[in-house]
Amino acid sequence: MTYIDTHSHLYDEQFDDDRADVLQRAFAAGAGKIFLPNVNAGTIAPMLQLASAYPGRLYPMLGLHPEDLGDTWRETLQQMETLLQEQDHPYIAIGEVGLDYYWNRSKYEEQQEAFAIQVEWAVKYGLPLMIHTRDAHREMVQVLTDVRNRNRDISESRNPEIPKFSGVFHCFGGSAEEAAELLGFEDFMLGIGGVVTFKKSPLPAVLREAVPLERIVLETDAPYLAPVPHRGKRNETAYVTDVIAKLAEIYERDAQEVARITTENALKTFPKAK
Ligand code: NI
Repeated sequence: MTYIDTHSHLYDEQFDDDRADVLQRAFAAGAGKIFLPNVNAGTIAPMLQLASAYPGRLYPMLGLHPEDLGDTWRETLQQMETLLQEQDHPYIAIGEVGLDYYWNRSKYEEQQEAFAIQVEWAVKYGLPLMIHTRDAHREMVQVLTDVRNRNRDISESRNPEIPKFSGVFHCFGGSAEEAAELLGFEDFMLGIGGVVTFKKSPLPAVLREAVPLERIVLETDAPYLAPVPHRGKRNETAYVTDVIAKLAEIYERDAQEVARITTENALKTFPKAK
């Protein structure tokens, strides 16, 4: 069995003591590739260093996380955009970006402004998006729709293989209605991880009702959100096998098939990682 973990912060300092072992366990469990979402200016260097140590296995993204805006986000975004302008840059996606109104709404407008700028990058540089949303479904869909409508007339992306407007709604945990609305963005996938295994999660019923397996990619969000039976502990890519087992149960398919289909979905969405 081979699978892809599309969202893992393996460069995080929580892995400093045993990162090579964590990766060894991931590859042994079947992880063919692992995608690394960036969070702020300070995580770019450790992320790139890690990715370059595992060519063809680990792939970096570039973006500023909504919880990491700080006071200098405009400058940070300017610096990040210069990295995207370099020929042959290594980034396979813009991420992780989005809106998070769970803890506070103090940067309500600024989050939307920063998100819109980075969604525009996705169009301009022909890269998929890795989108984080928490308590902001309505606003997130609005920003995405606005940018898409603004760019309707752009007929060719730089790389014709890359769809102009695509990506992942990372850590999806919404209702069937919200799922249907997100799947209306036709080149986007829903990222499913440990939460689907939680005992009281409504997510299995929502997936069964509203989401075909052809629209799902696997993720950990490591070091966070470990699946049962590791819940509450540090998450790692090898634990995706527990998510695969749960999806096999939900969709009544065998685990091999879940791994194969979600791998195809991931490679379709992130063509630079082929
Ligand atoms: Ni994340």
